[in-house]
Amino acid sequence: MPATNPNITGERPKIRQLDDAAINRIAAGEVVERPASAVKELVENALDAGATRIEISYADGGKSLIAVSDDGCGMSADDLPLALSRHATSKIDGADLLNIRSFGFRGEALPSLGAVGRLSIVTRADGFDGAELRVAGGKMAPVVPAASPYGTRIELRDLFYATPARLKFLRTERGEAQAIADTVRRLAVAEPMIGFRLTDVTEGKPPRTVLDVPSARDADTALSDRLRAILGADFVENAIPLDAEREGIRLTGLAALPTYSRGAAVAQYIMVNGRPVSDRQLTGALRAAYSDVLSRDRHPVAALFITCDPSRVDVNVHPAKSEVRFRDPGVVRGLIVSGLRHALAGASHRSSSTVADGVLGAMQPPPTTARVYQMEPRQTLATPSGFSEVSAPSARVEPSTDHVDVVPQDAPLGAARAQVHENYIVAQTATGMVLVDQHAAHERLVYERMKRQAREAGIAAQALLIPEIVELPAPECDRLLAIAEELATLGLGIEAFGGTAIAVRETPAIVGEIDAKALVHDILDALGTATGSETVAARIDAVLSRMSCHGSIRSGRQMRVDEMNALLREMEATPNSGQCNHGRPTYVELKLSDIERLFGRT
Ligand SMILES: Nc1ncnc2c1ncn2[C@@H]1O[C@H](COP(=O)(O)OP(=O)(O)OP(=O)(O)O)[C@@H](O)[C@H]1O
Ligand SMILES: [Mg+2]
Repeated sequence: MPATNPNITGERPKIRQLDDAAINRIAAGEVVERPASAVKELVENALDAGATRIEISYADGGKSLIAVSDDGCGMSADDLPLALSRHATSKIDGADLLNIRSFGFRGEALPSLGAVGRLSIVTRADGFDGAELRVAGGKMAPVVPAASPYGTRIELRDLFYATPARLKFLRTERGEAQAIADTVRRLAVAEPMIGFRLTDVTEGKPPRTVLDVPSARDADTALSDRLRAILGADFVENAIPLDAEREGIRLTGLAALPTYSRGAAVAQYIMVNGRPVSDRQLTGALRAAYSDVLSRDRHPVAALFITCDPSRVDVNVHPAKSEVRFRDPGVVRGLIVSGLRHALAGASHRSSSTVADGVLGAMQPPPTTARVYQMEPRQTLATPSGFSEVSAPSARVEPSTDHVDVVPQDAPLGAARAQVHENYIVAQTATGMVLVDQHAAHERLVYERMKRQAREAGIAAQALLIPEIVELPAPECDRLLAIAEELATLGLGIEAFGGTAIAVRETPAIVGEIDAKALVHDILDALGTATGSETVAARIDAVLSRMSCHGSIRSGRQMRVDEMNALLREMEATPNSGQCNHGRPTYVELKLSDIERLFGRT
């Protein structure tokens, strides 16, 4: 059988020039990975053309049809063949690739799409007649006159018909449709003034509007209106506005409270100079900003806009332009981490309103339907929960006025009135009441106190009367001993004790009496999940978080009113005290109006 690979025939391989169609197909492989990438290129072109409204439709997950219409500047008949040739662009002159202010700059998208599908462009520019151009599998037909409104409509049919291998790599139609919707949502957040409509026009089904957001009239409210439409009204209500700057790089947008988090990183929108990016460095910084207030399995929700002079960021590093490279990556990371932490700490006395809604729901009296009367006797006899126990022996009720005068009138967390079930503090505020989970709150306070001490003079240690010996596999002993010095500054004194055990001699004074063995195992776990990329500081925070968890002894402990008030005041003075170390709220608030709603008074 003759060898088909010229490189293994034994003869010297011949170098030849590929034809345009092959060149375009190869380029397309990078630019157009899937239907959503075609949508992204077409919508970005419409945005660059100054469109105010963009209509997108697709069929069969974009595999059989993608169509994008805009009311932008359009093209003349003469422009059309140029738009379809590689490296032809109206957007830059090539002199300065570090001064890019448009989505497009390579002149590659349309020829790539024309190489891997059947493309038709119908367009009309101001002062010109309408024109149409078709390309299929890289072959261009002549430009013909066509009726068209001002603007451009581009249809891409049978994507990847010319490269069947690529077709095999696509996901289900549903998966591709989701990716298209995600792409359009990201562009819609990036361009809140522009109207977008996305419709699924798959044959055999009624057309389905996936997204429809109008063009905005008011630039001041455009972004919050758009975020409300895309991420939900809940997000906007539970988010903090950002505005921070560092060395000429600015961070704006909205970041959700930790109590409003998600189980996956699906609602994180990051824009760099107006371009939606999915850049690991930036999402990593977002994660790091919340690392203190969210457990590892929860993900923050945010829309971040980073703006800077275009010369400080290279957008030409990724074929889909979804990654960027900053000239000073450290500055950007620092800006995101500290800007977000600062904003979160400032809002630490807000826990998410959706939590309060949940509470309201849970506290609603049962509906008085027939079902209530059919309840099992056991249920009707069950201990009434929550407030009905205020007068039960386990609750402490203090006379109401004797301590109010010592609590400032406008204290956000109010004056403690009672403790119920040895863990919940009921306090009266100026406008309602709060219910505090004293264990969660205390854990957070201990954590913040330890962090403060760790930053300042190191955490004070308390020597154990009898050192605790903890047996461990040798590699684990080594791991701990390797950071023994670090742990000592955190108040945990350990020493080698034979090859397969360590002796714990000191524990942090602040946490009181703790189970040293459980703590050591927990710290090993925390170190185990910390990936190598995490900073020493992040590892320390993880260790401190575990320690404070062990040191929080206040659950199940009766507290006096002055102790409760002291806890409330300390919470008010401590950053991030609205959430425990795992992102759960430490308290919930019910406004008087909420209480009135509960009783049907409004
Ligand atoms: N919707 C549109 N309205 C007006 N002109 C358009 C439109 N789409 C494309 N063009 C013109 O066609 C040219 C080529 O588009 P193409 O997307 O291939 O390249 P680009 O946008 O310049 O760069 P990139 O490859 O980075 O996207 C554009 O520079 C622009 O002049
Ligand atoms: Mg383009």
